[in-house]
Amino acid sequence: MDYSNDVIRFDEQAILCLRSLYSEYGYLPYRMSRFEEYGLYAENKAFLSSGEIITFTGANGKLMALRPDVTLSIVKHTLDDGSLKKLYYNEYIYRPDSGDFKEQMQMGLECIGDLGADLMGEVLMLARQSLKELSINSRLDVSHMGFFSALLQCAKLNADQKTTLLRSVSEKNIPEIYALCDEYKLEDSYRDKLAALVMLYGSFDEIIAALREISINDESDSALRELDDVFKVLKSLGVETDVNLDFTIVNDLNYYNGIIFQGFIEGIPKKVLSGGRYDELLRKFNKRSGAVGFAVNLDLLEQQNHQYGIPENTVRAASDKIINVALPKGRLGEDAYAVFESAGYACPDMNEESRRLVFESLENGVRYFWVKPSDVSIYVERGVADIGVVGKDILLEYSSDVYELLDLGMGICRMCIAAEKGYVEQQDRVLRVATKFPNIARNHYEQKGRAIDIITLNGSIELAPLLGLSDVIVDIVETGQTLLENNLEALEKIVDISARLISNKASYKFKHEAIRKLCSSIKK
Ligand code: PRP
Repeated sequence: MDYSNDVIRFDEQAILCLRSLYSEYGYLPYRMSRFEEYGLYAENKAFLSSGEIITFTGANGKLMALRPDVTLSIVKHTLDDGSLKKLYYNEYIYRPDSGDFKEQMQMGLECIGDLGADLMGEVLMLARQSLKELSINSRLDVSHMGFFSALLQCAKLNADQKTTLLRSVSEKNIPEIYALCDEYKLEDSYRDKLAALVMLYGSFDEIIAALREISINDESDSALRELDDVFKVLKSLGVETDVNLDFTIVNDLNYYNGIIFQGFIEGIPKKVLSGGRYDELLRKFNKRSGAVGFAVNLDLLEQQNHQYGIPENTVRAASDKIINVALPKGRLGEDAYAVFESAGYACPDMNEESRRLVFESLENGVRYFWVKPSDVSIYVERGVADIGVVGKDILLEYSSDVYELLDLGMGICRMCIAAEKGYVEQQDRVLRVATKFPNIARNHYEQKGRAIDIITLNGSIELAPLLGLSDVIVDIVETGQTLLENNLEALEKIVDISARLISNKASYKFKHEAIRKLCSSIKK
């Protein structure tokens, strides 16, 4: 039966196409219920992308959950009898997204059993092929958690330190990696290896020599040997040149022990495919098999056709490789633009007195947007801007999922707790904290174990303690003049702040050369 595009939607066609690809390689369809006992997810929260789950009480009084993930169900219900299981599925999952729960269609496959390089290569090839079926311009990037595990083991870090360091790696955040290595008293040679690792991006042949230099012991050597074996299989399958290594892809060490990977499609700001080897999850179910799998988020495909908000027929074709830059309106943005201008990314119209918000220079390959400072990370995270300039305060407040490429050394200030001069904190009372940064304030006081009542304001925070609305404030202090003139004083610094150059993770891959060139021109 043939159906026209009007009858079968693009996502439905994608499902059919991927089903036939997976069947061709011997994978069998797997069906499951939309709900499971909540305990399955409660016990494996770190395996999930979020701990927020929709629950309800089942007929027998048991707490049930609408499935936020498929892999856990497959692992729970699959027999550990030593035979190879090759399965694929397309199922709805229920996850929080932008403050609400969304139903997402996921298509994926799992391979469970005794897994050698051949099967790992086959799964990576199928991930690569899946992306190709969905778009003509896509990328599959691969990393290895065993390599990280070896590096972190050598540094003798505790679990929290490992998590913090891995987060900086996933952000390509070199200044923070330096600061953390300093704090954890790690040797300079170790710090330099980590910094070199996060900047590597390229094909296996291009970067394997550099990886061997970074390798630290037998365990990391063995991770590289596994990559070598799997890439040989990929080569034999004709897809190895198409797959890059990127060690900023990290995942939870308690579940993922080997190769992990992510897939991107040009025009979609987030990863579309995500997967990896997760033997450690099976161990938690007392199962001995190895396991690898991946899932494709089919709902994201809808975004492919309305990116950038720039009307079709404008300079789109010529500007596909143009870098879109979100600059914060105000002095910081003007100072940042001056840096871009002297690095060779001028856009003469920018100096006009006008209220225009979008400027571009096709000649210099750049388009600037003036946006509200607190919105810069939203534009970049959603891929409308490829890069942006934003204060670290905004990045900390919104936990933006972006690369933090450079500390621009401007907009320098500090996030502080301040109160009226002579204020004495009463430990037996809930502390009232006024702030524009509720998440930063909450995290800070949580670490101290102090109960607080957060009063979120939008500006003139210094007024709150003066008028008795709060006991203290959490706010930016630059010169200290505002505190001084209002009879307030800083009690404690929470964190130093400066402007950062950030990049959308997908843009960094599709406009890699252009963004790297821009960063190195700015650093000069
Ligand atoms: C920021 C901050 C402080 C002030 C600190 O306010 O919230 O109020 O600057 O600067 P200083 O230490 O140099 O005096 P902003 O100007 O952004 O306005 P707002 O009060 O509306 O937040």
